[in-house]
Amino acid sequence: MRRKLVVGNWKMNGSRLLNAELLAGLDGAGPWVSDVAVCAPYPYLADVALSLQGKRIAWGAQDCSSREAGAYTGDVSAAMLAEFGCKYVIVGHSERRAYHAESDQLVADKAKIALAHNLTPIVCVGETLAEREANQTDVVVKRQMSAVIHTLGHCISQVVVAYEPVWAIGTGKTATPEQAQAVHALLRTQLHAATPKSAEMQLLYGGSVKPDNAATLFSQPDIDGGLIGGASLKVADFAAICRAAG
Ligand code: 13P
Repeated sequence: MRRKLVVGNWKMNGSRLLNAELLAGLDGAGPWVSDVAVCAPYPYLADVALSLQGKRIAWGAQDCSSREAGAYTGDVSAAMLAEFGCKYVIVGHSERRAYHAESDQLVADKAKIALAHNLTPIVCVGETLAEREANQTDVVVKRQMSAVIHTLGHCISQVVVAYEPVWAIGTGKTATPEQAQAVHALLRTQLHAATPKSAEMQLLYGGSVKPDNAATLFSQPDIDGGLIGGASLKVADFAAICRAAG
C-alpha cells in the first residue's frame, strides 16, 4: 500500500514573518495520516528547518544544481540542501523548464545528484496546452520521464514523480481526475519497465489542486497525493488538502 504524500511548493512567495505564521498554523492543524512536506525558497530553509524540527512535516527545496560544487555563481548544491535537513528537492518544475530553459537531461542530472546526497527528488513532468491539443501529451511526458530513467537506472525507484500539466498550473483549470489518472497510469507503466518497484513509487498530481477537488483526484488508483502551489500558502486550504489525502 503506497502512502499518500502532499507537498507544498511555495514557489517565490513568503517572508520570514508569513512563513512563521503559516508553519505554526499547519503545525496546529495536523497531524495528518499522509506524509506532508513544504518546499521553501532557499533563503528560508534555515528558518523552516528550525520551525519544523521534530514535527511531522518534512521540508525541501525547489531546485538544486546538477554540479557537485565550484564556480557556479548563484547556484545551490544538493549537499548544501542536505545540510539544512531537506528531505525533498523539486527538479524539472515546468517553471524552471520554461524560464530557465532546463533540458530533460539537465533535470535528470539534478535528480541524480540529489539522490547522491540522500535527498528525494520530486521529478516534475507535464505537457503544455499546445502539446495536449496536438495529442502529444503521452509523447512529451514519456520523453521527460525517459531521460530520468536512463540517467538513474535502477535508482529510479527512489524518486517521487509529479505530473503537472502546464495548462493547469496556477490557472484554476484542473485536469479532470480521469485525465490525470490516464497520465499517471501511463507513467507507472513506463516505470514498471524500468524497475520492479514501480508499484511502490509515489506519483503526485499538481495543477490547481484545491480543497474541493483534492479528494477526487487523490482517490484515483495511480494518484498518490499532490504537489500544491497557490493553495499551499493558505493554512486552511493546505490543511484541508492534506486531510483529503487520507
Ligand atoms: P498551483 O497549485 O498554484 O496550480 O501550482 C501547481 C504547481 O506548480 C506546484 O508545483
